[in-house]
Amino acid sequence: MTLDLNFVENQFPALEHRDYVYFDNAGGSLVLDRVARRISDYLLTSSVQHGATYAKSRIAMERLFEAQKSVAQLVNARRPEEVIMGASTSVLLRTLSSMLSARLRPGDEIIVSEVEHEANAGAWLQLEKLGVNIKFWPLDRDTMELSTQTLANLLNERTKLVCVTHVSNILGTINPVREFADVVHAHGAKICVDGVAYAPHRLIDVQVFDADYYVFSFYKAYGPHHAALIGRYDDLLELPGTNHFFVAEGEIPYKFQPGNVNYELSYGCIGISDYLIDMAKHHGAEGESERGHLAHAFDLIAEQEQKLSKRLLDYLNSVPGVTVIGDARNDASVRVPTISFTVGGQDSRTIVEQIDPHDVGIRYGDFYAVRLIEALDLAPQNGVVRVSMVHYNTLAEVDKLIEKLEPALNRHGQ
Ligand SMILES: Cc1ncc(COP(=O)(O)O)c(C=O)c1O
Repeated sequence: MTLDLNFVENQFPALEHRDYVYFDNAGGSLVLDRVARRISDYLLTSSVQHGATYAKSRIAMERLFEAQKSVAQLVNARRPEEVIMGASTSVLLRTLSSMLSARLRPGDEIIVSEVEHEANAGAWLQLEKLGVNIKFWPLDRDTMELSTQTLANLLNERTKLVCVTHVSNILGTINPVREFADVVHAHGAKICVDGVAYAPHRLIDVQVFDADYYVFSFYKAYGPHHAALIGRYDDLLELPGTNHFFVAEGEIPYKFQPGNVNYELSYGCIGISDYLIDMAKHHGAEGESERGHLAHAFDLIAEQEQKLSKRLLDYLNSVPGVTVIGDARNDASVRVPTISFTVGGQDSRTIVEQIDPHDVGIRYGDFYAVRLIEALDLAPQNGVVRVSMVHYNTLAEVDKLIEKLEPALNRHGQ
């Protein structure tokens, strides 16, 4: 069954007129109507203080717990308490680094992949001042992949943590995180996965991935500017909190949420799972568990995305001088529709500026994956051109982009 785009369009107020082609989704997706409504409903009906005995306070707390349960279901956490929420992935990774710092000793090692968004690099590099050694895991330049063998060669008995993205926000390739986790765990270390560029496209399952820490942002996945970090309950119990001294060690996730979380945004995030479950039902899913519905919805999403990727990759692969930065194959098991390219040595900015007047939103740059762009020697040409699509985009929109790209790309070499 193919995705009913009418159903999808009705869920996103910004898509009502489709007068603008939005291909900057890896920067931040459009927001679901039901997410915005929940945020507004929380603010207008539950905006009271948590932790009191009066009925309204209890209701407000229940709503927050409902949000935690919904996110736990979305990622298949073992229990709702494993979900720590916060302002952004960058903030949560800084929190995690300060949580783990108490357990690290001089000489311990942390491995960070070369393709990370700086959120999952800078948080760890700041531990160098404690005497922790950071080792970079390079991208294999021939395959443009992170190789498990290279990782295995970097691991040793001093390795405490490996930090890697599930999908690079530039390359778009889906990394085999379970395979990575198995190698990491065999060495007695832990793995921290940045799922930001994966979450809008595929169903997260922290148990299947066997990720010790998994983090992602809702604003890239049809929700508000809010994020979640999922850890293992037993681990979280042991780790020192980042909250006030009187917050008990067992108060999870509160002991990692000083000042508490943004209630209305948390509550809004319930709308994401709601949408996906409704999508599955709309497409005939019956009798499955809600996780089954979520899986069904992401199958539909992956299928639609693959059509979009195929159209654009077929075109880019056919233009002389264009290099897709990442795996240029169109295969939903290999990549998501975040597609970056360069045009010879041409400045990526000049390409994007030729597209801007046509109401098509793409962009150029390093996308905060500065180390990757520098390693690929693409900084002098202003990084890559990135087209980042999600399931609500259409083939007609890809065709419009291709039509507008034609003169821009053909200018190469003239
Ligand atoms: C792959 C990836 N990781 C992490 C981040 C940082 O997320 P946040 O803005 O929530 O800190 C981004 C943001 O663009 C990203 O694309």
